[in-house]
Amino acid sequence: MNIRKPLIAGNWKMFKTCSEAVETAKLLVTRIADVTDVDVMIAPAFIALAQVADIAKGSNLSIGAQNIFWEKEGAFTGEISPQMLVSTGCRYVIIGHSERRQFFGDTNETVNKKINAAIQADLIPVLCVGESEQERESNETFSVLDKQLTKGLKGFGLEEPKKLIIAYEPVWAIGTGKTATDDQAQEVHHFLRTLLEKQFGDSFAKAVRILYGGSVKPNNISTLMAKSDIDGALVGGASLDAEIFSKIVHF
Ligand code: 13P
Repeated sequence: MNIRKPLIAGNWKMFKTCSEAVETAKLLVTRIADVTDVDVMIAPAFIALAQVADIAKGSNLSIGAQNIFWEKEGAFTGEISPQMLVSTGCRYVIIGHSERRQFFGDTNETVNKKINAAIQADLIPVLCVGESEQERESNETFSVLDKQLTKGLKGFGLEEPKKLIIAYEPVWAIGTGKTATDDQAQEVHHFLRTLLEKQFGDSFAKAVRILYGGSVKPNNISTLMAKSDIDGALVGGASLDAEIFSKIVHF
């Protein structure tokens, strides 16, 4: 029996104004009202978090942020603290997305600080890991993932598997229409679970959810979800439309 409840999460990235976010969130709440066997989360831009969280209140839709800063408060122009995120009604936070690593200087070390800050604030971090096309071609996939996961989670004595989400997002599959095959994804998910077992023990590793991300669409979600170590998806482009995202949630 799979003890892990699937999680389908939408990363809206830098899309949607406040009114567009509100409109999509309202539609989504109605479309997924019947869903009980899958957890659903969307991560709008910071500016829309509070409004979208208000819409989601009392529904089965949870809200996440796309980034976090690790200090509680201070002179850090342009940054958002864990406590600020909590005050919007946010429960999850995506950390270490490849776009942040690529364009905004996130490293395994800053990712580690962000995860620590999220955990302290009782937010659920969604730690993103993934290799580039070049790293896959030069057979570095597993060593890159090992570093990202181990360094990202270094120093934590986590006990509650529900309070951590891992997302495997091969960089070459993001926004490209190229999905990792279900076997490729399963191989990596299994590897990640083995690493988690080493650090946190068998029962923790068995209960942690590992999501797949990279060109997930209504037509490929069920094949991915049929794999034993794939516990959900982190969806980019296909999460922007409530109708399409709801089809993925109803995989
Ligand atoms: P796409 O689904 O658009 O490929 O994006 C995946 C992603 O980066 C989610 O975080």
